[in-house]
Amino acid sequence: MSGLQGKRIVLGVTGSIAAFKAAEWTRSLVKEEAVVTVVLTEAAERFVSALTFAALSGNPVHRDMFGDSPEAIMAHLNLSREADVLLVAPATAQTIAALAQGAADSLLLAVVLAARIPVVICPAMNSNMLLHPATQRNIRCLEEYGYHIVQPGTGELACGEVGDGRLADWEAAREKLLSLFQPDDLRGYRVLITAGPTREPLDPVRFLSNRSSGKMGFALASTARRRGAGVTLVAGPVHLTDPPGVEVIRVTTAAEMARAVFDRAPEMDVIIKAAAVADFKPQVCEEHKIKKSEEGLRLELVKNVDILKELGQNRHPGLTLVGFAAESRRHVEEGRRKLREKNLDLIVINDILGSTTGFDVETNQVILIDKQSSTTLPLLSKEATADHIWDRVVAIRQHA
Ligand code: PMT
Repeated sequence: MSGLQGKRIVLGVTGSIAAFKAAEWTRSLVKEEAVVTVVLTEAAERFVSALTFAALSGNPVHRDMFGDSPEAIMAHLNLSREADVLLVAPATAQTIAALAQGAADSLLLAVVLAARIPVVICPAMNSNMLLHPATQRNIRCLEEYGYHIVQPGTGELACGEVGDGRLADWEAAREKLLSLFQPDDLRGYRVLITAGPTREPLDPVRFLSNRSSGKMGFALASTARRRGAGVTLVAGPVHLTDPPGVEVIRVTTAAEMARAVFDRAPEMDVIIKAAAVADFKPQVCEEHKIKKSEEGLRLELVKNVDILKELGQNRHPGLTLVGFAAESRRHVEEGRRKLREKNLDLIVINDILGSTTGFDVETNQVILIDKQSSTTLPLLSKEATADHIWDRVVAIRQHA
């Protein structure tokens, strides 16, 4: 289940070439089962038709403040009353200036002025227009009103120039929306999360590793960020892009992961070890590629540092330490053993044989065990699972 499911979003689209991206955003929102109602300015319709947005959103598009349909007559008041958030994307320099002045001579401007729900503004324009003192002053004014600005990106602009002013990526806007729907209950926390596998080299070509994709750890990082935490993510080799607003440290081997974790552990309030760290590594990493031979190949393996166990043995006061347990049998017994032996506050047990849990899938079903209780969660998305883990961490720290 996405955090946007069922959320009612009024999407205001203004007259920028980036209006076509608003159509893509509409499709993405509907795909996550958000309820989208689009308000178009007259200039926006020069770029993308109302029919396009009506088809993508599945709802009537609002354009005219003086329409005589029942929906139109009080739309400027009713639209925001019946919504959870107002998203203006793209927001042109003209719209930003008008909003800063409190103008209400279009349906969209009137809807924003009447809104008593969170307002998210995504500027998009030519670099010179964005950097002009008037536009910068207007954006600051909107921030003073309490509107949330999703900063434009940098890159090639529609006008052919390269610079600031590109409409933000959808991921950045999505993160902002999700953060508005999350409790801000991790604000002030410094958290460190590990994610993904490690790779233990055998020779210049080969390595020992596992099937971890990093999705569970990245979900923990994204959800913590939305809930206000300062997040450091130590990630093994995975094919996932850095979550917005998260400090990401990329490592390869268990030794590198250990170093990255131990160096930062003293400043952390919460550490969650979701990474699948290799327990062993080849005793020798050959300088040259090992040649095939008829007799087969024998490997001598040596143990890697148990990062979690070391953290548990050297934990500083005030740290909340959370481990994972990847089990195929005796789940609760093994989880309780790790909770005890590694001196943890919480263990997250997941089955690694199921087709919808554990490694490299979008969902997980976990058992949360702490010193007081044990809870079995249903099958959820890894983001929803992560939010439940954070709920438990907050509860543990409140009762510490
Ligand atoms: O990344 P995904 O594809 O989303 O898959 C998620 C996951 C299955 C990897 C994740 O949910 C998970 O179970 N992570 C822990 C995997 C693992 O190594 O479990 P374990 O039972 O072997 O280790 C127990 C704990 O000790 C873990 O917190 C692990 O990070 C930690 N550990 C283990 C070995 C080691 N040398 N150092 C460690 O810190």
